[in-house]
Amino acid sequence: MNISMIQGNVLDVRCDLLVVNLFEGVERPGGATGAVDAAMGGALSDLIKRDGFQGKLGERLVFPTFGKLKARKVCVLGLGPRKTFNEDTIRIVGGHIIKASRDAKARKVATILHGAGIGGLDVRAAAQALGEGLRLGAYRFHAYRGTGTKDQADKKDIQDVVIVEAERSKMKDAIQGLDRAQVLSDAAMLARDLVNTPSRDMTPAHLADVARSLATRGSRIRCKVLDREQMEKLGMGAALAVASGSAHPPVGVHLTYTPSRRPKRRVAVIGKAVTFDSGGLNIKPEKGMVTMKIDMAGAASVIGLFKVLPALNLPIEVHGIFLAVENMPSGTAYRPGDVVRAMNGMTIEILNTDAEGRVTLADALSYATKKIKPDIMVDLATLTGAAVVALGEEITALMTNDRRLGKDLLRAASITGEAMWQLPLYGTYDDALKSKIADVNNTGGRDASCIKGGLFLQRFVGATPWAHLDIAGPSYCEKETRPDVPHGGTGVGVRTLAAWLESIK
Ligand code: BES
Ligand code: MN
Ligand code: ZN
Repeated sequence: MNISMIQGNVLDVRCDLLVVNLFEGVERPGGATGAVDAAMGGALSDLIKRDGFQGKLGERLVFPTFGKLKARKVCVLGLGPRKTFNEDTIRIVGGHIIKASRDAKARKVATILHGAGIGGLDVRAAAQALGEGLRLGAYRFHAYRGTGTKDQADKKDIQDVVIVEAERSKMKDAIQGLDRAQVLSDAAMLARDLVNTPSRDMTPAHLADVARSLATRGSRIRCKVLDREQMEKLGMGAALAVASGSAHPPVGVHLTYTPSRRPKRRVAVIGKAVTFDSGGLNIKPEKGMVTMKIDMAGAASVIGLFKVLPALNLPIEVHGIFLAVENMPSGTAYRPGDVVRAMNGMTIEILNTDAEGRVTLADALSYATKKIKPDIMVDLATLTGAAVVALGEEITALMTNDRRLGKDLLRAASITGEAMWQLPLYGTYDDALKSKIADVNNTGGRDASCIKGGLFLQRFVGATPWAHLDIAGPSYCEKETRPDVPHGGTGVGVRTLAAWLESIK
């Protein structure tokens, strides 16, 4: 799908579908919608009245033009109330344009720069949001369809989206916004692809290969890969224990982005990378296991972030770390009751082999703290089912030992439209992590299990300012609620981390 920006009059563009908009409660359309209405001899305002079109966000009115316009059909898209209209609304509008276009079987689509006219938003931001909504909404995962199916579907799909802007003065910013949208969406969609790929193919070695492929010659990205022996030498007994039940050996990955200018900060981003979580010997029931290919979504987002870093060109040294393992039950698997030793010397009593994410992260965080000594550290992990119980499928749970960092991440998330809510690292709950024979146990019991996951991780970050993002809910979309987030892997975190890095002073 090609997205382009042209200057001119929307009515002059020959296309299968022209998409204009209307705020909620507006009966007499203005702007481009008014121009369409005039060209149709007032038929549009007539339809709006007769059909009781309210302009609710995502509401559509589609009609053929019977040769009265260069567009074969017109779609009026509701923007919802003017009061709540913002960049995220535009992202949703972008997704709805894709849905409307597919329903209308349109291959060439024309639309306006939603939000930059009557909406009154910053042109660059509006264009970026629109571009993201269009691209993220158009995403499909076809890699596992039978031969030919993908090509056929692609041929019938939307080929061109032309965004038409009347004012020349807005063109430069609009184009810049669209370019950014492309970079960021591509990175998020790479993360989606990785999450959607079945575990049979998305092995630890394969995930590491994807990371390595970003470190091309002459780029500012380097990739160090650790094999099992190197991980043993480093003392990563915790991650290795989780990996020990699988036929696929573990792989450690350390990506580094070195900026062209002197870095102001050193940041480490750590992802959970369990390529399949069967639960191990504490095996999951059918329902809980079937989607567990997604358990490397944290690492997928780290990889996605590294894909955008060169384009962002920020003066920040960024380290991306994940320890890729598969959690399987077998004769060589780690057991409930085992005690394992993490790289920072702490011992962990395994009470449940299904709480494996934190066990692997114990080593990943220890490695980052010890080897990189970052100024700030953020981990992303599909860590607990409890996060989904508490906040549902759409909201990331944020926990942090640094108030400022928490604020910054929440602000970034509010810009990107990736919902995030903070939970407390409530001190007394830490008692539940005590072990009779080791330094810590890996479960802490059922209550506040999401917070206890965070408290467990906190033991491996020392004094480093750190935030934990439990993305168990939003990493995967089971039921579509936003048109820019289709079913499957979502790529959550990529855009928010990019926005956060950009906001670092
Ligand atoms: N990968 C799961 C968490 C998960 C659940 C992610 C649902 C996405 C959707 C994690 O490894 C896990 O099994 N956590 C356990 C921890 C418990 C045993 C302390 C959980 O949340 O049930
Ligand atoms: Mn598990
Ligand atoms: Zn897991």
